[in-house]
Amino acid sequence: MSGMPALPGSARSRGAFRFAGSHAATSSPAPTPNSILTLLLGAAAVGLSPAVLADDAAVESLLKKSNCLKCHAVDKKKEGPSFRDTAAKYRGKADAEAKLVAFLTTNPKVKIDGRDESHDSLKTRNDADVRDVVRWILSR
Ligand code: HEC
Repeated sequence: MSGMPALPGSARSRGAFRFAGSHAATSSPAPTPNSILTLLLGAAAVGLSPAVLADDAAVESLLKKSNCLKCHAVDKKKEGPSFRDTAAKYRGKADAEAKLVAFLTTNPKVKIDGRDESHDSLKTRNDADVRDVVRWILSR
């Protein structure tokens, strides 16, 4: 009959947390896959080789040739750690590159499946190629 009881005054909203409505909306369009493809095809057509992409392909083919991908993947653990985990492990360490260059050229002993085995080296004699692979791994 008498409707809702009145709320005590203390329950009034005080509006303590108000945000200034100055959110800058940035909407610059990201490059679409198509525009990247066009760029690549264009570059290929005029005989340019975009260095970064060429390196990626060379690195991946050396990894394949060296059987690395049997035990490693970029983002999931197989027999060995993912390249992303290795990148995270070495992030910010000044000697990361030197350590991994040594690791991938000197067949260090590691535990593989509980057994001591020597870790494979990259199948190349070219230091620059080894460094490219190491940098690629560290930038995953
Ligand atoms: C038979 C499996 C196997 C193959 C083939 C293999 N790895 Fe590994 N790799 C491992 C294992 C297991 C570890 C972990 C060793 C450890 O932590 O002691 C490892 C560790 C690593 C690490 C991390 C080293 C560190 O200091 O954290 C890198 C980088 C790596 N491998 C790269 C490669 C590359 C590049 C190749 C190809 C030349 C390769 N692996 C071939 C099993 C393999």
